[in-house]
Amino acid sequence: MEGFTKEISKKNIMKKILITGGAGFIGAHVVKHFVKKYTNDQIINLDCLTYAAEPKNLTDVESCENYKFLKININNAENIDDVFKDHSITHVIHLAAESHVDRSIENSIDFALTNVIGTVNLLNAAKNNWSEDRDHLFYHISTDEVYGSLGLKGSFKESTKYDPKSPYSASKASSDHFVRSYFSTHNLPVVISNCSNNYGPFQNQEKFIPKVISSLKKKEPIPIYGQGKNIRDWLHVKDHVSAIEKIFNEGEVGETYNIGGGYEISNLQLVIKIIKVYSELYPSGYDYNQLISFVDDRKGHDFRYSIDSSKIQSMLGWSSKIKFEDGIKKTIKWYVEEN
Ligand SMILES: NC(=O)c1ccc[n+]([C@@H]2O[C@H](COP(=O)([O-])OP(=O)(O)OC[C@H]3O[C@@H](n4cnc5c(N)ncnc54)[C@H](O)[C@@H]3O)[C@@H](O)[C@H]2O)c1
Repeated sequence: MEGFTKEISKKNIMKKILITGGAGFIGAHVVKHFVKKYTNDQIINLDCLTYAAEPKNLTDVESCENYKFLKININNAENIDDVFKDHSITHVIHLAAESHVDRSIENSIDFALTNVIGTVNLLNAAKNNWSEDRDHLFYHISTDEVYGSLGLKGSFKESTKYDPKSPYSASKASSDHFVRSYFSTHNLPVVISNCSNNYGPFQNQEKFIPKVISSLKKKEPIPIYGQGKNIRDWLHVKDHVSAIEKIFNEGEVGETYNIGGGYEISNLQLVIKIIKVYSELYPSGYDYNQLISFVDDRKGHDFRYSIDSSKIQSMLGWSSKIKFEDGIKKTIKWYVEEN
């Protein structure tokens, strides 16, 4: 009888979902999707608005009744605990992070502070404010980069040993371990997903695809590390959001899910493809290939990432829907015409 009552109450109680990093690239897409779809739940977007944030991407949800924005830094443990108390947070989708590998090579400390300490602050607040008789979830959004670098063959599975190579991936690996340790040690209901490279609207101009498009617009050199042979697995950000929603609603507590687009391409081939689509969209007779400019390779540059998404596909029935050709065309149009 007790179990039955709990099931019913789980369904009826309004969720108060704290989304961290909701003014960033992926976070803004997650916030907008959840605010518009889950109108009976409260969405609290917590972001300290670093250089990577773009609040204007959230203007269409600002006036929604179920939406609230808090300008707070996750590195401040006291403030984070207050947020859990003041807003009776029931669920967390944690995206706030320092996310740029090049910046992590220049200055690793911010990555340790935000990605590791900030995550532990959130875990502590959840641990101290949540009780076992309520429906709770701490969902940590992570990256496939924690698994390190692949050769030409193979893909990362959830069971692949962690082998982070950059300060960014080392900080994300550390935060993943902390999240898992709170599940084992404190029985905190957690779930983790590790996703491949995202593309789509709202991404900061310093990231690879927006930088390529911006260089095309300005007819400036397109910098490519080394020989451009490094391979990445690309996923449209909206497919990432659908995977996040699936895991949030149906994922098993304590589990990890890999998310990938299954679209692998070298950096050079990607640039050539973007140039082709851009030239078709905006014909000018100019040969944009002449802008390709090879620069010194990134230190410790991971050669290849590839994701095996079979677990989320078979256990939760998720698969990516947006074909790269369609996604990249719309993405280019967005950066040229709407940004
Ligand atoms: N972009 C990708 O391709 C990708 C792929 C896999 C996983 N991820 C993960 O997804 C998450 C979001 O990535 P993104 O690309 O949207 O990042 P982003 O850099 O675009 O956005 C990060 C957001 O976090 C906020 N933030 C940073 N430090 C903060 C702090 N101390 N307190 C509060 N807010 C803070 C920033 O203001 C920003 O709005 C990250 O955890 C990242 O590791 C990203």
